[in-house]
Amino acid sequence: MLIQDSLVPDGPLHAGGLLPTEPGSGRGRSHGTSNSKAFDRWFRYPAGFASDYVSTLLETLSLSSGSLIVDPFAGSAVTGTAARRAGHSFSGIETHPLIAELANLKLQAPPSSPESFAVMAGELAKAAEQLAPSAAAGLETEADLTQRCFQPHVLARLISLRDLIRAGQADEWGVYAKWALLGTLRDVASARVGWPYQRPGTQRRPRFTDPLGRFVQRATWMAEDLQNVGASGSGMYASVTHGDSRDPEAWGSIEGAHGCVASPPYLNNFDYADATRLELYFWGEVTSWAQMCSTVRSGMITATTQQSSVAAAREASSKLARFGNAGTAVEELTAQLEAQRNERSRGKEYDRVIPDYFAAMAQILENLAKSMLPGASAVWLVGDSAPYGVYVDTPGLIGQIAEHVGFSMEKDVVLRRRGQRWASNQTRHDVELSERLILLRRQ
Ligand SMILES: C[S@@+](CC[C@H](N)C(=O)[O-])C[C@H]1O[C@@H](n2cnc3c(N)ncnc32)[C@H](O)[C@@H]1O
Repeated sequence: MLIQDSLVPDGPLHAGGLLPTEPGSGRGRSHGTSNSKAFDRWFRYPAGFASDYVSTLLETLSLSSGSLIVDPFAGSAVTGTAARRAGHSFSGIETHPLIAELANLKLQAPPSSPESFAVMAGELAKAAEQLAPSAAAGLETEADLTQRCFQPHVLARLISLRDLIRAGQADEWGVYAKWALLGTLRDVASARVGWPYQRPGTQRRPRFTDPLGRFVQRATWMAEDLQNVGASGSGMYASVTHGDSRDPEAWGSIEGAHGCVASPPYLNNFDYADATRLELYFWGEVTSWAQMCSTVRSGMITATTQQSSVAAAREASSKLARFGNAGTAVEELTAQLEAQRNERSRGKEYDRVIPDYFAAMAQILENLAKSMLPGASAVWLVGDSAPYGVYVDTPGLIGQIAEHVGFSMEKDVVLRRRGQRWASNQTRHDVELSERLILLRRQ
């Protein structure tokens, strides 16, 4: 990667300027990626942030065109597509295999003229209608979750489409067609499949009743977005590596980065693997919970109690010892949370999540520091949390850890207040929580 020192930001952020404190869309990322913005609308990833806000942040960094932006939690590539729109290159890392595939699909050059994809989608829909009666005869071979989320005639059409795409009928547009279909699933489901958790036992009225028409609509949007990128991204590089950003090898040749806009998983028990279970099962990427844990969740940083383990927590605690006050603070939080757990008959193991989470952050920040130019800025959106009412200042602790690995913490801004509680916390707490934006500067 070409290193251009002149591109190191020296804009309003560093001149004492203000960071934009409200997401541009006014909605923040608790609502997931936008349903209407180009590329974001391909698939509504619950953890994605508002793309117009990322564009605003990138502008605030005052980078020269052609800068390299990185994101170690790339998700569905909202930062990647915003960076491309602004004329920058982008390198991201994402551990969820399906979501990394989506991110790359948005960033790579399409195989041929995008209109041909919309035409192809219409032909696939016609062929799927023909095949639906025979697909209807085999619905019971589908995963239980899949069967329970759709009315039989809808599922038969979805399966027909899937089988045609798998059989190569979408030619060079196969992966695009796959995502037009995966994006359609929650639109036409007749069970509660809102984020984050799918509840197939609870029925709802489908938002759209015609699965094939909806599939074509989605493919048309994708084609439009690809068409509109046109030559704007030409000469720039943009991709997402499927990997674990704790692992230095996942960073490969990422170096000389001029900026980072990212949002790590929060310590709020949100499970990114489980959240995408419907898509994973429907496409056959996984066939059991155990397989989902081993193939999807295994590379994720520990941010939920379902992922925690005694051994990992112990190892993480010893790694954190070198982080001074931050290490001590994590140790104290761990002790408080352990005491809270012991007071309950079936307490959740938040005390085993905390050390592992912050040790992961330390490793990722260390890798990030190596990839960035001196003076470059990293903007992270992070929420705090309060398991069992014990306040965890996640953004503050990340900032302190960052200062040990080559960054200075320049700003810490409250973006919005939020009343979210840990999903499975039975004991309501009244600790006020917020989503914050921290600005780190590479020394
Ligand atoms: C808050 S979301 C970021 C979403 C993203 N901004 C987007 O545009 O969709 C955090 C992401 O970090 C990913 N993640 C968790 N652990 C990871 C790891 N060890 N390496 C890389 N990505 C990881 C999750 O799968 C999730 O997609």
